Amino acid sequence: PRAFALIPAAGMGKRMGASMNKQYLQLGGKPIVARTLQVFQDSPLISGIILVIPEDEIPYCRREVVEKYQLTKVLDVVPGGSERQHSVMNGLRALQNLAAAEDIILIHDGVRPFIDEGILQQSIDLAGSGVGALVAVQSKDTIKVVRDGVVISTPERSTLWQAQTPQSFRYGQILQAHQQAVQDNFVGTDDCSLFERSNEPVKIITGSYRNIKITTPEDLVLAEAFLSQQGGGQP
Ligand code: CTP
Ligand code: MG
Repeated sequence: PRAFALIPAAGMGKRMGASMNKQYLQLGGKPIVARTLQVFQDSPLISGIILVIPEDEIPYCRREVVEKYQLTKVLDVVPGGSERQHSVMNGLRALQNLAAAEDIILIHDGVRPFIDEGILQQSIDLAGSGVGALVAVQSKDTIKVVRDGVVISTPERSTLWQAQTPQSFRYGQILQAHQQAVQDNFVGTDDCSLFERSNEPVKIITGSYRNIKITTPEDLVLAEAFLSQQGGGQP
């Protein structure tokens, strides 16, 4: 089977509070989303990339990201939807004539630039066995369940993992899980949750604490620090 990357990058970046969409902010002199895409572009494991972007940004993104950085594996740039799940569904639809049911789809946030090829390889191998492959790290903090400012419970920390991406699946299976969610009016914040509710097994790949999702302004400071430690910067 081949492996394709599906990159949702159609959010609004509200929590970043920047004047432009956060995926175009510069990280080491290059837009965040270009850095993320570059990892998939450079990996021989990946056959093609579907990028999901807000509809009115598609021309800008094609010009300033895909063409400027010669991201030739980007097969299509498609419009997103109101929730992340809808954006992913649009990307899955765009793969309908490209991917076979047994091909592997790696769904990866456009604003998580610190992935490496080792994680891609492990994801492809695990998803190829027919399970959902979730990259995650153990929670460092104690997590409380809170309602209206009152603590309801404290789940045992050793059982808590922070979900990251990529989350990888066989194409036929993840398409089915998304179609079922549409039918049931279920909206989840990640792709594995759709798999879980269909009673499909999801297994963990231990990720890295560096694989952050750039969400708020302090994440950008962290990201620049990680880059300079790697000897990053341009390109
Ligand atoms: N995403 C998407 N379509 C949406 C919402 C989110 O493709 N309707 C993407 C984002 O672009 C991002 C990833 O999903 O790459 C993770 O989402 P998040 O970090 O929440 O990004 P935003 O939704 O853009 O940020 P915020 O929630 O702060 O507005
Ligand atoms: Mg969001």
